Amino acid sequence: MKRFPENFLWGGAVAAHQLEGAWDEAGKGPSVADVMTAGSAKQQRQITAGVITGQNYPNHQAIDFYHHYPSDLKLMAEMGFKCFRTSIAWSRIFPQGDETQPNEAGLKFYDDLFAECLKNGIEPIVTLSHFEIPYNLVVKYGGWRNRKMIDFFVKFADVCFQRYRKQVKYWMTFNEINNQTGYHNEFCLYTNSGIQVKPGENAEQLMYQAAHYELVASAIVVAHGHEINPAYQIGCMLAMEPLYPLNSQPQNIMMAEKAMQKRYWFTDVHVNGEYPSFMEAFLQNKHYRTDITVADRYDLKQGTVDYIGFSYYMSKTVKASEDNPAYEYDDFSSDVQNPFLPASEWGWTIDPEGLRYGANWFNDRYHLPLFVVENGLGARDEIAADGKIHDSYRIDYLQAHLVQLKKAIVEDGIKIIGYTPWSAIDIVSAGTGQMEKRYGFIYVDKDDQGKGTLKRIPKDSFYWYQRIIATNGENL
Ligand code: BG6
Repeated sequence: MKRFPENFLWGGAVAAHQLEGAWDEAGKGPSVADVMTAGSAKQQRQITAGVITGQNYPNHQAIDFYHHYPSDLKLMAEMGFKCFRTSIAWSRIFPQGDETQPNEAGLKFYDDLFAECLKNGIEPIVTLSHFEIPYNLVVKYGGWRNRKMIDFFVKFADVCFQRYRKQVKYWMTFNEINNQTGYHNEFCLYTNSGIQVKPGENAEQLMYQAAHYELVASAIVVAHGHEINPAYQIGCMLAMEPLYPLNSQPQNIMMAEKAMQKRYWFTDVHVNGEYPSFMEAFLQNKHYRTDITVADRYDLKQGTVDYIGFSYYMSKTVKASEDNPAYEYDDFSSDVQNPFLPASEWGWTIDPEGLRYGANWFNDRYHLPLFVVENGLGARDEIAADGKIHDSYRIDYLQAHLVQLKKAIVEDGIKIIGYTPWSAIDIVSAGTGQMEKRYGFIYVDKDDQGKGTLKRIPKDSFYWYQRIIATNGENL
C-alpha cells in the first residue's frame, strides 16, 4: 500500500461552542463556554459567575454558524470534504442538563445540519462532549465531581444516538479527556469537567474522580450506542502530545515514561475496559479513595471503544529533577524547551514527526484504528492588498504533517480512518477565546473585539487542501 486508502475520510473539524453562536436561541441553555470571557496569548480567559453584562463572551456569537451553515457547508463541499467533525451542544438538547425531556428545537437544528452535510456529500463525525457542559450542571451539581453526571450524560447520549441513527456513523464521547491532567490550570478542569476547585480541595484528587465518572459514562454510552445501532463506530478522543525525554539520561527516560502514563492512562481504560496497574498503584499510594465501584468496573468492560480519535498539535519535552523522585509529571511545570523545535506565537512547538510518533505509540499499545480528528496551526492571518489570504505558513505546517501521516499509513501500516484538521473554518479559540488565533481554511471577518462583517473568504490553504483531497494525498 503506497497511498492513502480509497475511502479515507478527508475533512475538517470544529466544535459547536466555538462556531455556532446563537448561544441562547431556540431554547438553548448556557454552557460552560458561555461564561468564559475573551483572553489572549498572555492573558487567561476568565470564568465568570454566570453571564455578566458588559463582558466580552466570544462564544455567544462565535461565527454564527447557526445561521450560516448552509453556505459554510457549500464551501467545505467545494474543498472536497468527505466528512465534517463537529459536536452537539449538550445544552441545546438539554438546556439545564437535568430535564426529563429534551428540547425539540435543539434536536431539530442538528437534524437540519446533518441533513445539509449529507446533501453536500459530507459525512458528519460527532463528538458528544466537547467543552460545553450545561452551566446549570456546574452550579447545581459541581460538574463531574458528582456521580449524578453519569446519568445526565447517558440520557443526553441516548437521545442523540436514537435521533441521528440514520445520519451519523462515527461518534466520540469526550473530547481530549486527558487535557485535565493540566489541573493546575483552572481552564483545563473547567472545560473538561465543569469543576472549579474550592479552597482546601485537592485538584489532582478531583481530577481522578471526575475522569473516572467520565470513563464510566463513556463506557455505558458506548454499550448503549452499539445496542441502538450496531453499525455505530464509537471512539474515545485524546490529545496526543508526545512527551519526549530531554536526552538519554536514564532518569529523563523514566520521567518521560511516567509522564506518558499520566497523560494516556485514560486510553487504557477506554480501550481495555480496566485501569492499568500503574494507575491502580498510583491511586492507592496517594490514598485518594476514588469512588470506583464493582459495578463501575463491570460497566467499563462492557463499553470498550471501536477506535481512537486524537488531536495532534505539538510535542513536549520533559526532564527529571531531584526534587521529584517519584517522576510525577505536571503539565505546566515539568516541561522544558526542546532545542530542536520551533514554536508558534502561542508557544506551541511545531513537530510534524511527532504526529507519526504519536500514531505509532497508540497503534503499538492498542491495536485499534486511529482517526486524526484535529491537527493545525493557530496563526494570525492578514488580508493582502489583492483581497486574499496567503497563508503559506499554514500550508507548510499541514503539508509537513500530512507527509508524516502518510508514512504512518504506508510505512508503518497503521490503519487510519481519516484526517480532519483544525479547523474547517476560522472559529473562536478554545484556549484564549481569540478570533485572531486562526486555524481555518476559510477566513471569517471578525476580530478579537468581536467586530467584523462575518464575511467568509477562502484562504490559499483552501485551494491547497482542495488539491490534496482531489488527489487523495498523492502528490504530497
Ligand atoms: C483542542 C481542542 O485542544 O485544540 C479545540 O479540542 C481547540 O477545542 C484546539 O480549539 C486548538 O486550541 P486553541 O486553544 O488554540 O483553540
